[in-house]
Amino acid sequence: MGHLLNILDLSVEEIDQLIATADAIMENPEDYQNACQNKILATLFFEPSTRTRLSFESAMLGLGGRVLGFSDSSSSSARKGESVADTIAVVSAYADIIAMRHPKEGAPLIAANHTRVPIINGGDGGHWHPTQTLTDLLTIRHEKGRLEGLTIGLCGDLKFGRTVHSLIEAMSRYNGVRFVLISPQELALPALEKARYIDGKGIPCRECRSLEEAIGELDILYMTRIQRERFASEEEYQRLKDSYILTPEKMELARGDMIVMHPLPRVNEIAPLVDEDPRACYFRQAYYGRFIRMALILKLLQESGKGKAQPDKGRPHFPENALPGGVCKNPHCITTTEQGLPQRFTPAGEGEGEYRCLYCEAEYTP
Ligand code: NCD
Repeated sequence: MGHLLNILDLSVEEIDQLIATADAIMENPEDYQNACQNKILATLFFEPSTRTRLSFESAMLGLGGRVLGFSDSSSSSARKGESVADTIAVVSAYADIIAMRHPKEGAPLIAANHTRVPIINGGDGGHWHPTQTLTDLLTIRHEKGRLEGLTIGLCGDLKFGRTVHSLIEAMSRYNGVRFVLISPQELALPALEKARYIDGKGIPCRECRSLEEAIGELDILYMTRIQRERFASEEEYQRLKDSYILTPEKMELARGDMIVMHPLPRVNEIAPLVDEDPRACYFRQAYYGRFIRMALILKLLQESGKGKAQPDKGRPHFPENALPGGVCKNPHCITTTEQGLPQRFTPAGEGEGEYRCLYCEAEYTP
């Protein structure tokens, strides 16, 4: 059964098809208005959301389907201590497809192993956010006309920003891409991520601390919020929160055809005056999110036996080389809260004796 946990679950060709479907829906929405009649989407949001949840719901309604779910885990049995595995086992009997968001990294993998229906990851901790990336790719295709040969500056919280991680993984598959990583040292892209998706693939990349210094060389500036909720200390957040603020003055240093993207919500990293600049495309980006999610729902429902719920659980997502044992040391990992979960680690591939947690991908040394 097809799930979307990670953007790399989709091939480049599948992404092209999703973009083509989203374009077709944008052009003729009435052709799709009954495409998911009698189908139910469950949105299970254990963590706050505006765009992701509402665009999923709006997408399903636009396809003629119906929606149920919760937007606050305190109104679900999670509050009583129910596990993600049990919640999913139950809800997958009530819906044809599930979009979920969870603060713990790796939660969607548990869901995929306990569901009867397709699971879509709407964000797991600071780990992945594949449907934001699909939104970003559709935006780039519309705004820049191509996905190849682009210099992308990612600015802000590259450590905890899940949209950054998924976008890098996706863009690393297109020719001629170049990354400029703009962050304070403390919020730099995790080393394993950089080794695997940038350096390991020979992609040109430079790290710098100053937005002013980098902005002039970019085709795309991808701004991000400093992820306050993922900091261990509020003091550290207060110290770093104003690291970058994009202003009209800084926009003067950028090329005329550079675009500014942001997954939103913004806090103060983009001054509202920048919104008037035609190069600011973050509200158009949010608009595209609904259509690519429509395309994704259609694809996954078609793949899951023409929309029929499967009586058996989804294929377990444990690769053959996953080793049991040990305890993951990442405090954001789902294995820290989900009871009785088998711990598993996979070879990191970068060196002898190096492993990653199967759920959250954090480095693990036995
Ligand atoms: C992002 C997220 O939730 O990761 N928002 C979104 O889904 N559009 C970005 C963020 O919260 O900073």
